[in-house]
This record gives sequence, C-alpha cells and structure tokens, in this order.
Amino acid sequence: MEKLKVGIIGFGTVGTGVYKVLQTIDNIEIKKIAVKNINKKRNIENFDETILTNDAFQVVNDPDIDVVIEVAGGVNPAFDLLKTAINNGKHIVTANKELLAKEGSELFRLAKEKNIIILYEAAVAGGIPIIMPVKTTLSANKITKIAAILNGTTNYILTKMHEQNLSYDTALKQAQELGYAETDPTGDVEGYDASYKISILSTIAFNKKVSIDKIYREGITNIKPQDIQSAKDLGYRIKLIAMGQVLEDGKIDVRVHPMLVAKKHLLAKVNNATNSIMLTGYPVGELVLTGPGAGAEPTASSVVGDLLILASELKTSPCPLPQTVCNHEEIADQIEIGDTYNDYYISINASNNPGAIGIIGTICGKNNISISTIMQKGINPDNTAQIVVITEKSKESDVQNALKEMLKSDSIKNIDNLLRVMN
Ligand code: HSE
Repeated sequence: MEKLKVGIIGFGTVGTGVYKVLQTIDNIEIKKIAVKNINKKRNIENFDETILTNDAFQVVNDPDIDVVIEVAGGVNPAFDLLKTAINNGKHIVTANKELLAKEGSELFRLAKEKNIIILYEAAVAGGIPIIMPVKTTLSANKITKIAAILNGTTNYILTKMHEQNLSYDTALKQAQELGYAETDPTGDVEGYDASYKISILSTIAFNKKVSIDKIYREGITNIKPQDIQSAKDLGYRIKLIAMGQVLEDGKIDVRVHPMLVAKKHLLAKVNNATNSIMLTGYPVGELVLTGPGAGAEPTASSVVGDLLILASELKTSPCPLPQTVCNHEEIADQIEIGDTYNDYYISINASNNPGAIGIIGTICGKNNISISTIMQKGINPDNTAQIVVITEKSKESDVQNALKEMLKSDSIKNIDNLLRVMN
C-alpha cells in the first residue's frame, strides 16, 4: 500500500497530539517535523529525532512530502510557508484560524490555481466537526444564523466568575494556571480568536466572503462581578458569543461580544472550556453541536480526520472534489454595529436623587428605546445607586445616543456597562 507522506510544521500541544494519533494509523507516514527548538527534550516513546528540523522550509520544499500539516499558528512565517507548499504542489491541512481569517482569500486563490486542497476542520472549534458538515452534509441548506461559543478560555473564565463569584483577574489567573489561557491572554480575552473563527465559519455558512476587518469585536475584560450578579438576578448568564446572521435585505451581521444569555437558552448551559455552535438553516431547522474546542487530542481528531479525507480523495480522483474547494468570490455586505438591532443590558451608576430613574426613562423614550425591566437594589454607601435596565429590541446607534445624553445629566454619574442580550 502506497503511504501518504506528510510533514508537520509546529510541534507544540497540537503537533504532538497529531503525531501521537498518527502512530495509530497505517497508511500515513511522517517524513519531517519542523520545530522551534531542535534540542528540546521530548517525552515521546520510540521517537525518531532524525525527522526533526528547525527549518520549516525543509518541510514545504521536500519533494517526498505530499501533504503539509500546519499547526504552528500565527500569520508569519506560516503564510509564506503555505504559499511555498502550494506552489510546490503539496496539499494542506491547517488549524491556523488567524492565517485563514486574514490571508485565506489569497491562499484559496492560489490553491485553486494549482489544483490544491486546503482542509481546516481544526481551525474552528477544535474537535467539533463543523466545517466539513456545513460544506457537505448540510449543503442543501440556506443557513441564516449562527450563534456560538467559540473560545474555551473566555468561557472558562466567565463560568468561574458565575459559579465561584470570582473577579475577572482571579478567574484569568486560574485559567492561566490550568494552561487554558496564555501568559499574554489578549488573543482570547479580547475576542480576536473568536472573531477569526466566526469569520471562517460565516464565510462558508453564508457562501460569501466575510471580512475579518469588518467584524465588530469586544472582549470580556470589562465584565465585573456586579454584571454577573445582575445577570443572575435577572435570569441570565454572561457568555462571549460569536454570531452571524443574514438579514432580510441580504446584508450580513457578524460580530463577537459578550452577551447576557437567557438561562433557558442552550448556549447558557455550555460551561467551562466547552465550545458550542447553534446553526439555523432551511430545511434543517435548528442544530446544536457541542464539544471540546481546544486541547491536543480533540484538535488532533479534526486534523487527522482531514488528513484521512485527503488520503482517500487523492487515491480516487486527480482533481479536488467540489466540497474541498473554498471559492467565495462574492463579498458579504457586512453591516456596522451601529446599524444592528438588539435587546440591551445597561448598567448605570446614578446619584441618589429623586427622579434619576425618571431621567433614564425619559431619555430612553426620546431615543425610541422601550424598557422591559428596570432594577435597583437599594442605595450604595457613597449615596449612589446601581440601576440596571433591560431594553426591548432597539437600534444600537439609538442606544449609543441615549447613553451620551444620559451622561450629560447631573443625576447620571457613569454608564458602567452596556451589553447585548440573547433571549
Ligand atoms: N485559545 C483557544 C480557546 C483555542 O481558548 O478556545 C485555540 O483557538
């Protein structure tokens, strides 16, 4: 039996997981692995260190290698490496969400020109199969909506804030100690990672190129214990939600931000580092896929699955099958956050003056905002009051205008938070 010969770029958590899973598979042979530090001690049984190289170009230029597995992450040098690999006729399996979100158009264009297959199941939600199902089994559908938890680190932090009443900083520290969050957690906590993933997923689900530059993004660093408590009091949980929807006029609304999610909603029940994706499409209806979004073994499940799809495909056909090609020439018409409609949670710090709630109500009314719930729990020791408002569906730009107007009033000291709500 002719074995498929692969080279791996990146030998960290995911690369090592992929290596281990490949030891259980007969028809694939690892020819080379590119690492950062060739002298590092590796705790792997019967490991042949002669396949290691610290020059990743040796992998992409090796004439014996059929497929390059890229699990190093980042745009540079991965972009140059994968372009070289494609130009050399090698197929690609990658978990690199940042690269695909930022440079996917160029990579897929080049791949099409060279008749090369790029598979990337592991780039979105780690071990959850979502890319291939959307491209194949669900291809009869018109998908109109995605609501998802696509980042395990932030879901872990928010879960701990809810369950153990931890501050954001303490929960982040715990996530770092457990290896979920990195030393520099920016990519996760500021929502970048989730925005790369939703740009990739919404592009294939809506069949139009969704630009990462036009995705509104807000992270979780501004969530305070008082927001978690108010959310609990009102029957919600706070989650970092990546969402995308096709509007009635065909425009596309894609964004990442924290939301108050009603306790009865399926996404509110997804805790710790778990990911979950809810898709709405016709004719399938509503579909939810939940599972591990990161980690060596779940991610290796997706990477090696892609590799086996490639292996069987290359055996039977000289040309890529349509579902393995990514071809989105139509550009999505993405709307700005100011034009979106949402229910809102507004946390307001007001002076303890008679009429403060009246002022909030009047300003909301003047800006077309209808209040559905208003909550104040007593007076703070500094003679201020925390007033929490939940609105009915309103336009974001109207809400922003209302908040500006509130801040002009002597009775309103601060807008502590503005979050969107999912019922
Ligand atoms: N850092 C990501 C997460 C996993 O926390 O979900 C890799 O994208």
